[in-house]
This record gives sequence, structure tokens and C-alpha cells, in this order.
Amino acid sequence: MRIDAISIFTEYFQALDLSLLGKAQAAGLLNFKAHDLRDYTHDRHRTVDDTPYGGGAGMLMKPEPWGEAFDDILGESDDAPVIIFTSPAGEVFKQSTARELAGRKHLVFACGRYEGIDQRVVDYAATKGEVRLISIGDYVLNGGEVAAIAMIEAIARLVPGVIGNAESLVEESHSDGLLEYPSYTKPSEWRGLEVPPVLLSGNHALIAKWRHDQQVERTRQVRPDLLGE
Ligand code: ADE
Repeated sequence: MRIDAISIFTEYFQALDLSLLGKAQAAGLLNFKAHDLRDYTHDRHRTVDDTPYGGGAGMLMKPEPWGEAFDDILGESDDAPVIIFTSPAGEVFKQSTARELAGRKHLVFACGRYEGIDQRVVDYAATKGEVRLISIGDYVLNGGEVAAIAMIEAIARLVPGVIGNAESLVEESHSDGLLEYPSYTKPSEWRGLEVPPVLLSGNHALIAKWRHDQQVERTRQVRPDLLGE
């Protein structure tokens, strides 16, 4: 899978060189590159922002550097990429979004800063690929980089081969619409706290039932919205 990110703070993306995603890159399962938007400017100050038409607080990202970046990055692409604008005004990113995007060949994350990006950049991107505006939650970050990293990690770990033990993907939170059950390891008693006896029983049917009950109870208490309640 190929993933590009366009940003004025490419250093953020060094986090993707660590751990499993770093290994996935080394193994060629993931081809990731961060592009500095300022490399597509032509003035001495490498300007990427300007004041908004119609007035209002703050600065907007100007269209020209984005247009050049897209022409450069999307021009090399063999099949229609998905261009993701990170935005608190977008659809909310879910595990189902991660699954859907993990099946695509080329993703491009456009990370805005300031008060956002000139709308024509989004309209232009739509002539080059499939555009999605995606938020990672109902709160506002200073820019899209942290949001893009969260999405890239959630997506890339679903690409076959990235996680060694694929079974671990099956039992985790959100894989079946429920939160994960609580887990325990040795010792069976620690500081007066005991592991639930059913887990030591060796009765696999009983353990599976207990885990499922725990998932439902936890989801009902913490995230009733997931149960449609
Ligand atoms: N940029 C700023 N806030 C964001 C959010 N919640 N999700 C995605 N991108 C953002």
C-alpha cells in the first residue's frame, strides 16, 4: 500500500518509522512518504497562507502550493487515489472506515493548518481522485498531522502481513461492534486482586461466554451508542 502525506510539519510523521509500521515499511508492505508543502512554494518566505476573502479571524492555506503538490504526487499514481483531507468538519473516522481504506492501493493525506484550506483545493483534488473529509473525533487539534498519523496507524495495521498475529485483530475492540473484554496474565493473585476464577477453569465454552458477557456489559456502560441504545 502506498501512503503520502502533505504537511508543513513533516517531522511529525517520523513516528511512523517506529515499531510495527517501521518494520512494515522496511519489508515493503507499506510505502510511506511525507511531503513538505513549502517545497511547492516559489517566494523567499515559502508562504503557504493568506487572509480569507470576506474577512474573519486567522489565515487560510492558499491554493497554489497544494495544486502543485497534487500535480506532483498524484501524477505518479497508477490507480485512482483516495485523497483524505483531515478536518474536524469531516465524517468521523471509525474502525469500518479503517477497514474500507485498508483495501485501497494509494492514500494521500492532506494535512491543513491555520483556519483551514481554500475550498478550491478540495474541488481540484476531486478531479484527481476520490476525496474524503475525515475527522478523528469531536474536538479541534492545531492541525491535521496527529489526526493523519492516528488514521494511518489504524489503516496500515489492517494491511495483511503488517501485524504478525492476525488473530489479535479479531478479538480487539470494535472488530465486532463491541468493546474488548478485560484480560489478565500471571500471577493469578496480585496485591490481593484475583483473576476471575472462570479464566482458570480450562472450560473454553464457559470462558467464551464470560468474555462475551463482559464485552456487552462494558459496551452498555461506557458506549451504549454502539448498541443502538
Ligand atoms: N484537524 C483539526 N482537528 C481535527 C480533527 N478532530 N480531526 C481531523 N483533523 C483535524
